[in-house]
Amino acid sequence: MIKRIYLSSPTMHDLEMKYIQEAFDTNWVAPLGKNVDEFENEMASFIGVSHAAALVSGTAALHLALKLCNVQPGDLVFCSDLTFSATVNPVSYEGGVQVFIDSERDTWNMDPRALERAFKKYPKPKAVIVANLYGIPAQLEEIKEICDHNNVPLIEDAAESLGATYRGKQTGTFGKYSALSLVVLKNSTSKEYTGIRKKSSKVA
Ligand SMILES: Cc1ncc(COP(=O)(O)O)c(C=O)c1O
Repeated sequence: MIKRIYLSSPTMHDLEMKYIQEAFDTNWVAPLGKNVDEFENEMASFIGVSHAAALVSGTAALHLALKLCNVQPGDLVFCSDLTFSATVNPVSYEGGVQVFIDSERDTWNMDPRALERAFKKYPKPKAVIVANLYGIPAQLEEIKEICDHNNVPLIEDAAESLGATYRGKQTGTFGKYSALSLVVLKNSTSKEYTGIRKKSSKVA
């Protein structure tokens, strides 16, 4: 007989059952309830930002961030080139055009020098999306500085880097908008996913 080995199968133990029961008992099954509010607050305070919003997926968080950056059909968005496809798919959902920025050898993430070259070569993009691949932060301060200098919002795809820090600061705090993911393959998992918003960003 073949023994099937599941990938990240859910573990439902005492606390999970307690909270599920509590949600039913208090009738806070939909739309949202206390547990989601607390999840958002705890996530925001763990990362060090003022707000976090739980969405259905990291992809949805990236999509929302692009909408908040007002990406319209034909607009350019500079994106990491070595990443999971969800980093860049939402650009297509809005009819935007990805410009792939090459990676550097040290972190395998977006190369700040390549980003600078792209700003010289292409018309101004609506946003830059940088991914922190495999839990390794990109050179986030350098990348943010280039974006600030060009007055273009940075979206941080921290789907793979929850808990990782860059120069002592949690990833997920560098972008104007940042996305985390708690899908089953990530280092911390849940059925809830998060998009987070940074202190300085405006309320949409
Ligand atoms: C780099 C990266 N961005 C975005 C996502 C999308 O997250 P989700 O699966 O929660 O939509 C993932 C993982 O799935 C990812 O690895």
